[in-house]
Amino acid sequence: MKILSIESSCDDSSIAITEIATKKLLFHKKISQEAEHSCYGGVVPELASRLHAVALPKILQETTEYFPHLKAIAVTNRPGLSVTLLEGITMAKTLAVLLNIPLIAVHHLKAHIYSLFIEREKITPLLVLLISGGHTQIIRMENFEKMEILATSMDDSVGESFDKCAKMMDLGYPGGPIIEALAREGDEACFDFPVPLRNSPLIAFSLSGLKNAVRLQVEKSKTLNAGVLSREDQCNIAASFQKAVKLHLLQKSKKIFAKEPIRDFAIVGGASANLYLREAFEVLCRDYDKKLHHAAMEFCSDNAAMVGRYAIEAYHKRDFIDPDLIDVVSTKKQQSGTLL
Ligand code: KG4
Ligand code: ZN
Repeated sequence: MKILSIESSCDDSSIAITEIATKKLLFHKKISQEAEHSCYGGVVPELASRLHAVALPKILQETTEYFPHLKAIAVTNRPGLSVTLLEGITMAKTLAVLLNIPLIAVHHLKAHIYSLFIEREKITPLLVLLISGGHTQIIRMENFEKMEILATSMDDSVGESFDKCAKMMDLGYPGGPIIEALAREGDEACFDFPVPLRNSPLIAFSLSGLKNAVRLQVEKSKTLNAGVLSREDQCNIAASFQKAVKLHLLQKSKKIFAKEPIRDFAIVGGASANLYLREAFEVLCRDYDKKLHHAAMEFCSDNAAMVGRYAIEAYHKRDFIDPDLIDVVSTKKQQSGTLL
């Protein structure tokens, strides 16, 4: 009894096969489009969609031996880029109808949370800091049904701010790993970038002001160096920016820790692969007597394995959707309440 899961919410085409009873990941493949989007400094939705249309069928061909054993098809249907979500949804719908098995619609942020439980048992209740390219949120997960947004970004997300800083310095996409690597060689005390919402009692995130401070520094450093941004400046800007992001995330997490007695705390999403941020949270969690969890490195960024892990639970709860009714759900960011 297995589930085939599909992920195409942004620029990763991925398919996984998961055994329902044991949660074992039997097959997982992902084709990323980073190289194709790099020259644009970000994801171009129409291009991403066309690349999914080629990559998904290619991966699917490798899974045909599992078809007779499939009990359900799962697919990310929200939130994400509508034109790319549609590629995965169309494939999932077709497979569910042809194989005459149920279809499961998966919320992308919930799947990121379930990346923690790939080939593992679930941990609840759990506090989660989700830092991806599309979202920055703190979520309290009571159980499968109840995942409550406690804090959210009022503007850019963490991953997006790394991407934009890299773009400002003409460093390519995705910016996260590039900035993290440069920061290792830089002096984080070199530029005094403002820590967002430092004096605000709000339990929320904001990264656009910091991004603008980086933009001004990039321009200033270029002007002082005949229009060229030196490698030393790149490293120092990257390190100073990353430090401000860290302080912002730590400060707002501390406020949540003070209110929430839940002991298990996790960081998920693409930017949770950042070792500098992980180390800072390890120290924070030690100080606040929290137990820190994160997904395996390969499951931090978008993947179908986390969609499959979520789908196991949806399968047991018979949380299925009619193939005629599944659609891309509005991509507007949810600011509060229970994740829908
Ligand atoms: O979770 P994800 O794959 O996609 C979304 O759901 O958005 O996250 C992608 C984001 C990108 O913005 C990327 O720059 C960021 O995660 N990212 C990082 C790192 N690795 C990936 N950000 C900071 N540091 C990293 N090492
Ligand atoms: Zn994601």
